[in-house]
Amino acid sequence: MAEDRVDKHRRRFLTVVTTGVGAVGAVAAVVPFVGSMSPSARAKAAGAPVEVDISKLQPGQMLREEWRGKPIFIVKRTSEMLDTLDGVQGELLDPASDAGQQPGYVDMGTRSLKPHLLVLVGICTHLGCAPVEKFAMGAESGLGEDWPGGFFCPCHGSKFDLAGRVYKGVPAPSNLVVPPHRFKTDTMIVVGEDPEGVA
Ligand code: FES
Repeated sequence: MAEDRVDKHRRRFLTVVTTGVGAVGAVAAVVPFVGSMSPSARAKAAGAPVEVDISKLQPGQMLREEWRGKPIFIVKRTSEMLDTLDGVQGELLDPASDAGQQPGYVDMGTRSLKPHLLVLVGICTHLGCAPVEKFAMGAESGLGEDWPGGFFCPCHGSKFDLAGRVYKGVPAPSNLVVPPHRFKTDTMIVVGEDPEGVA
């Protein structure tokens, strides 16, 4: 019995020592990493706003950025893409986006500050997978003849239109989120700041 107690005590001691060494190792691994980050990278990791140059973004293209560790999609919609937004309303779960998935200052019809430029958090509102852009219309998209273009989540098949609004009858319960953002210039978007400069 006494030996048993000694053994248990020894085991506990060893566990504590091992855990301590692990923690020191982890800190040692993290400190040089943080120390090697540039001031802007450190600010970015901490959640600072991110400036995105969209000068090279062509109509119909999407650019990916990262803000607060989340993927950000910036889409330059063509007039043809914008024309699809009204036609799909009847198939959407929350066409007016009443659930508050965007800042109050964006236009509710296009869910953007400028109609042609859509900014979204690229995280599916079902279980957090990354939706993919499916901008091609019709059969070419692989989503059927009637597909008008939008986003598709490969995990469980949720579909979103070209304003990030979720379709009815899919697992995702709400529209993709529009993050706070503003235009610093015509070709520079700041993600993480409201037009007044505060997020
Ligand atoms: S995580 Fe996107 S459909 Fe489930």
